[in-house]
Order: sequence, then structure tokens, then C-alpha cells
Amino acid sequence: MNDRFLRACRREPVDRTPVWLMRQAGRYMPEYRALRQKHSLLELCRTPELAREVTLQPLGLGVDAAILFSDLLLPLEPMGIRFDFVSGEGPKIENPIRGADDVRALRRFEPRESLGFVMEAIRLLRRELQVPLIGFAGAPFTLASYALEGGHSSSFAITKTLMYSDPQSWHRLAGLLAELVLEFLTAQVEAGAQALQLFDSWVGALDEGDYRELVFPHVSHVLQGLKGCGVPLIHFGTGTAHLLALQREAGGDVIGMDWKLNLPATWDRLGKIAVQGNLDPALLFAKPEVFLEQARKILDAAASRPGFIFNVGHGILPETPVDHVLQLVDFVHAWRVNGQPNR
Ligand code: CP3
Repeated sequence: MNDRFLRACRREPVDRTPVWLMRQAGRYMPEYRALRQKHSLLELCRTPELAREVTLQPLGLGVDAAILFSDLLLPLEPMGIRFDFVSGEGPKIENPIRGADDVRALRRFEPRESLGFVMEAIRLLRRELQVPLIGFAGAPFTLASYALEGGHSSSFAITKTLMYSDPQSWHRLAGLLAELVLEFLTAQVEAGAQALQLFDSWVGALDEGDYRELVFPHVSHVLQGLKGCGVPLIHFGTGTAHLLALQREAGGDVIGMDWKLNLPATWDRLGKIAVQGNLDPALLFAKPEVFLEQARKILDAAASRPGFIFNVGHGILPETPVDHVLQLVDFVHAWRVNGQPNR
């Protein structure tokens, strides 16, 4: 069993710097595209045998962790929010939340029943994996933003309108999401997930005051509620330079950093915590000497500290050359300082 990823999450010494990549299973892989010819994205997510197969696809690249193949939006459906993925446009919500009445009408659900296929995929994978399995869910703000906006948004105007004009309904919505996500992640650990990542991908759109008042209580409900679950928690967001100290306070053993952050300076500011990041995924379109040089800079700055996990700062992009990903993983594993990384 390769456990260097889990050791780094706990800030223990490792033999090599662990590396995995957000969206490591996806459209850049020919095997994934071949399966997508036959099945929709939701079919892949809802069929444990297919989710298992896709989760395993990137492991041949040599990554040190598997992330369960699923999607952030799945918990919305049993709450009564219907959606589909429209080719080339991303997710489309059929009945987005439009006000207090819609928030009140949302249903609670038992994830072990309504999302039982996720736990079944985890159980299948744990029987054969040689690397740790990461489970995940969306954080309340990021999930709520899809439920309200109806899809991806750049301004988050509808979400902010609810937050500012009807904070009571906002807190009811975010509070419900927090409870359900906590239960869903707990169920993933019971099924065998060995680490969890909470994706608050879009929360960087808020200022510090709004984060503190409108989001912090709900994120900390999830992460503090998971504290005793026995697996490391990765707290991830993008564009959150101004929020990182609060995100850290909200909870998590590992903090995700995107490429806009100066990694060593930010790490110094945060103090003792494990860090995951932060190569710009767009760099993987450049020539190997270009992205490997940036990888080397990140490793030189971070990899001799306890608790560093190499990753991209946000998901791998669909057209990324597979060969570049392979070269990146090999490069991270070959990196050494005095023959002893991370000690
Ligand atoms: O990292 C992995 O390999 C695990 C799989 C995974 C997927 N979605 C599969 C997927 C994970 C961790 C997610 C999380 C997710 N889903 C997030 C948070 C992550 C982030 O990027 O910050 C969000 C916001 C979503 C919602 C979602 N799902 C969007 C916005 C899209 C469209 C994106 C796009 O690039 O078109 C999806 C679709 C999706 N989820 C794909 C994959 C591999 C695209 C696949 C396809 O169409 O075949």
C-alpha cells in the first residue's frame, strides 16, 4: 500500500513528494472519452461499476491517490433540484431556487439511501486499490451557487441577492446543505474513503466580511463535524488569498492553494498545516521544459517542508496532453533535496 499521500496529510515524513491531480479522471484521457461515447456523465456517476472503472483510469500515470469519480452536484437531486449536463455548457439546473418558498420546499435525504451508489463505488474500489481513496463533496456556498444560479456564473448575482436581501433564507439553505454534506461525507468514510476533500471552488467571489458572517458558520459545521471521523480533510477553494486564514480556522488538515498564491509566503503566513497545490493547469499545454521548470520552483519552495502534496491549483483541463501529465508525475517523484524530501 502506497501511503505517502496520507502521511503528507498528517505532516509525517515521506519517501517522495506525493502527487495527485484534480480531475485526474476526465476528458483529456482517451479511455475516458471512449466510455463517454457509450454513457452519459450521470450514468458514469450513478453506476458503481462504471464509477469504479473511471476512478482507476488515471492510476497508470503513477499518482499517489485516487479520487472517487462522481460529481459535486449529485446531492442536489434528492433535495428536489433537477439537473443535467449539457454538452459544451456544463451543468444546467431545471428548477433553480428562486426565493424563500423554494428554500422551504427543499427535502432532506439520507445519503446512504439516495446516494447509495456513491458508497457502493467506494466499497468496490477499496477491495483493489493500492493507493488511498479520496471522497469529496461541495461546500455549502459552491453547491448553493449552482442551485441558485442554475449553472455556472461569473458574478454570482443571484446568490448574492439572496444573501443580502433575505439572509434568513440564505442561512436556511446553507445550513441544510451543511447538514446534508456532513452526513454524506460521513457515509463516504463509513464506506471506506480514506481522505475527504471539500470543494469550495467559487467562494473566492465573496469578501472577508461576507465569508465570516454568511459562509464560515456552515463550512465549519461540516469540517468540525468531521473532526472525529479519523481521515484527513482537505479544504479547497480558488481565488481565496483574502480568505485563507478564515478557511483555515473553519477547518481542515490540508489547505488547497491555487497558482495565483505565492506558495511559500502564504504557507509561512498560515503556519503549521499541510498544503496541496499549486501548478497552473494551463501550464500543462506548454512545452515540458516550461511546466517542469515551474514544478521545480514549487518543489524547491515547498517539498522539503512537512505536509506538502503536489497538485494542480484547479482541475486539469480537457485538452491536456496525457504525456505531459505523465512527465509531471515522474518529475515530482524524482525530486530530491539531500536525498530526503519532506523531512
Ligand atoms: O477529480 C476527479 O477526477 C473526480 C471527478 C470530479 C468531477 N467533478 C467529474 C466531472 C470532481 C471532483 C468534480 C467536482 C466538481 N463538479 C466541481 C468542483 C471541482 C472544481 O472544479 O472546482 C464542480 C464545480 C462540479 C460541477 C461540474 N461538473 C461542472 C461545472 C462541470 C462542467 C465542467 C466542464 O469542464 O465541462 C461538470 C462536469 C464534470 N464533472 C466532468 C467531469 C470529468 C466533465 C466530464 C464530461 O462532460 O464528460
